[in-house]
Amino acid sequence: MTLWESRLSGAMADEVAAFTSSLEFDRLLINDDLVASRAHVKGLGRHGVLCEAEVQALLAALDRVAEEFENGTFVFQPSDEDVHTAVERRVTELAGEVGAKLHTGRSRNDQVATDLRLWCRRNLAEVATDVLSFQEVLLQRAREAGDAYLPGYTHLQRAQPVLLAHQLLAHGWALARDVDRMIDAIERLDCSPLGAGALAGSSLPLDPDFVAEELGFHRRFENSIDAVSDRDFVAEVLFDLAMLGVHLSRMGEEIVLWASEEFGFCTLQDAYATGSSMLPQKKNPDVAELARGKSGRLIGHLTAVLTTLKGLPLSYNRDLQEDKEPLFDAVAQVRRALAAMTGLFATLSWDTRRMQEAADGGAAAAVDLAELLVERGIPFRKAHATVASLVKESIERRVPLVELVQAHPDLGEAGAKLLEPGVAVGRRTTPGGTGPVPVAEQLEGFVRHLGVDRARLEVYLRTPKKDP
Ligand code: ARG
Repeated sequence: MTLWESRLSGAMADEVAAFTSSLEFDRLLINDDLVASRAHVKGLGRHGVLCEAEVQALLAALDRVAEEFENGTFVFQPSDEDVHTAVERRVTELAGEVGAKLHTGRSRNDQVATDLRLWCRRNLAEVATDVLSFQEVLLQRAREAGDAYLPGYTHLQRAQPVLLAHQLLAHGWALARDVDRMIDAIERLDCSPLGAGALAGSSLPLDPDFVAEELGFHRRFENSIDAVSDRDFVAEVLFDLAMLGVHLSRMGEEIVLWASEEFGFCTLQDAYATGSSMLPQKKNPDVAELARGKSGRLIGHLTAVLTTLKGLPLSYNRDLQEDKEPLFDAVAQVRRALAAMTGLFATLSWDTRRMQEAADGGAAAAVDLAELLVERGIPFRKAHATVASLVKESIERRVPLVELVQAHPDLGEAGAKLLEPGVAVGRRTTPGGTGPVPVAEQLEGFVRHLGVDRARLEVYLRTPKKDP
């Protein structure tokens, strides 16, 4: 039986039901659907559309549905097209005739938009909290790293030595932007569409402001057509998750490189590594690789939703049902990736000796030599050329650079000193740079930033219910 059997005669063809049903995935919205329905019923009661007894009967039935769902006795029927029709059907079975009043003044169009915003608000806050936990691990590892240093790279060529703490916090700040974006997105999507009806509002005395407040939304919709058409928030959430996925991918790539024998900068803990089914000696960085690989899927989800939205006329179109699977999957994948990457980073061990050997060998302090010449009054371009020639000569004649530096009249012993282990990195004193002094300041700033983000998120984490 459908909700529109009086309009369309006969049953829906089986293949149509199979094609159009969203129950398989939108059952994830059941808690939000129940919460939104409670608010709707109370709103109808406020202005006398429902009498108090009817309100109580419907609220009791909604509570029963929640209980049934919680204890696993709720049974979806093959005729339920989506989670909204399933809840309404069950409320009607439980409450009898008054169940027929639940959907008064409401459409699934404003209902689904409401549910989805509630779902996004809570889930995005949880993803952001997971990111904060990952950042805490990076912070911890950065603190432990002390004055360990490694080559910093540009073009994947050794460029200048950097503190390991600095390198780790570089990822930490990228993740901070992800958190910031997610909080921004939450604040924008924190708007109630309930009361927009199918698209035009209602002739009944609905109270969109009241239901918005009941649901903890910061505000209600301004335009009922926009309220049921808008899925910007889904696209925005998917962008934020794709961007986060790209950051995790870049971190994953770094670990893949660092765990290789060629780099040898880190060793993965066995619980966060995998073996090979054929090659007995292998220890593979599959977590890092999947963190890299999942980003393709996340970008795909964003593309899918934008493509679905791009040609849609106002207002609701069934195409919009295609918003859910990408969204739900993106959140699930990102959360798993974050959990695994957090554990990976918490447990891996660094080979700081290898890192330092890589940073000390060669000419990673070359720019320091040029800057010494600058201090001695030589224009930078000329200083650059002088040092470049020495490096070239050292490679061509296979003479250690330090010997050529020592022999150079403008560099000498002071120059040779700059090539000693750990000297160059300590000289990076400018704000935000890689020396121990600015890095200590940076660590403090990072701690403050995490605290602020935690506080901003708190208000969105109050809904205790977990998703099914
Ligand atoms: N399952 C639908 C969706 O996800 C609910 C809305 C259906 N509305 C309608 N007019 N057919 O969008």
